[in-house]
Amino acid sequence: MRVDLTETMGPSPTVVRSSDFAEAMSVLANGVVMVTSWVDGRPWGITVSAFTSVSAEPPTVLVSLWSDTASARALQEVGSFGVSILGRHHRAAARHGSRRGASKFLERFADRNGRGRSPSVAGALAHLDCDVTEQVQVADHTIFIGRVRNVRTADGEPLVYFRRAYRALAPYAKPSTRRRTPCLSS
Ligand SMILES: Cc1cc2nc3c(=O)[nH]c(=O)nc-3n(C[C@H](O)[C@H](O)[C@H](O)COP(=O)(O)O)c2cc1C
Repeated sequence: MRVDLTETMGPSPTVVRSSDFAEAMSVLANGVVMVTSWVDGRPWGITVSAFTSVSAEPPTVLVSLWSDTASARALQEVGSFGVSILGRHHRAAARHGSRRGASKFLERFADRNGRGRSPSVAGALAHLDCDVTEQVQVADHTIFIGRVRNVRTADGEPLVYFRRAYRALAPYAKPSTRRRTPCLSS
């Protein structure tokens, strides 16, 4: 039987504007991490939300970095990186690590007693030391796949990024006080 693909595939694809795409992504609440490395022998950290766990066995993560940055080049050169998962008290560190065009040396926020192979942010909720096992170039970003070699964890509440602003978690509101969920519009 012949299938009419034009019908099953729906209307022809339209070009999505990057500003619309960014707007849609801004409503996905993310945790915030600092991806760390070494630059000229000094600790370096960039603020990142595109971080995720890939596999537990073996422990594997990925981070996606804009390719044309000193941070991405550092990961490529060093061949390893750290991930510090930020707490709600880390807004200043997050701002420091996301300043466009600025150096991202981390001494001010680094854990001076950190024993890991990668620099870590003092007071991070968790820190992972990773070796780069693969790099995948996608559009203008490089996805670094990292094998986790060491982890440390601590207590605390997370830093959250939502609608282009830093937030802290709040207790879930009781159903009676919640407003009706508005419909999505396109
Ligand atoms: C909350 C937040 C999350 C970010 N997530 C990423 C990310 O996942 N990947 C990335 O390359 N840049 C991310 N950025 C932007 C970088 O922190 C940084 O500003 C950008 O790469 C420019 O760095 P450069 O000036 O060293 O080139 C994020 C910024 C903020 C504020």
